[in-house]
Amino acid sequence: MRAKTVKETAVDQHTYKIFPNDLNSYDTVFGGLIMATLDRIALVVAERHSEYTCVTASVDSMHFLNPAGRGDILLFSAACNRAWRSSMEIGVKVEAENYKTREKRHILSAYFTFVALDDHKKPVEVPQVIPETPIEIRRFEEAEFRRERRKSTAQQLKEHRAKRDNPI
Ligand SMILES: CC(C)(COP(=O)(O)OP(=O)(O)OC[C@H]1O[C@@H](n2cnc3c(N)ncnc32)[C@H](O)[C@@H]1OP(=O)(O)O)[C@@H](O)C(=O)NCCC(=O)NCCS
Repeated sequence: MRAKTVKETAVDQHTYKIFPNDLNSYDTVFGGLIMATLDRIALVVAERHSEYTCVTASVDSMHFLNPAGRGDILLFSAACNRAWRSSMEIGVKVEAENYKTREKRHILSAYFTFVALDDHKKPVEVPQVIPETPIEIRRFEEAEFRRERRKSTAQQLKEHRAKRDNPI
């Protein structure tokens, strides 16, 4: 299985023009639209990387930092930060561009974990990621911390529930 570089599979600044039907009652972009679009774009990266059908397993640290508004252009970027046995972390970023000034604002960042499935819908081994640039190396290293944190939170919750359900 051939390891792949980040740039082989990344999506860079996919554009989406905001129209009035994309807005919420507060007249800013509906967050669900951004989340659904991101899930699709991150999926494309995971499936390009693994060459298997993938499913979304979890989403971490989804922070809406600034609102996007009427007439803005959304720029979606996504890249595979790291792969393990069958799972991959895809980092995503959304910016809003003002078409007159070309000024960009950071709207959101998040990390999606996808799992590659074989024809029997079982998790299957995926290629490793080759980080090349300093920023790709930083993301590659930090992805391991996020994975450890996810696993340790899941373990803590499991222990907490076991204690709550069997108090002695
Ligand atoms: C994701 C899924 C396939 C994992 O299946 P599983 O039986 O738990 O598989 P395993 O325990 O063998 O784990 C497989 C991989 O998934 C990862 N994984 C499982 N649950 C995870 C979670 N909540 N968050 C992140 N990664 C997760 C594991 O760490 C493992 O990664 P690795 O192989 O790289 O070490 C299964 O939970 C599933 O089908 N979930 C529903 C996914 C879906 O339908 N998404 C669309 C939403 S509508």
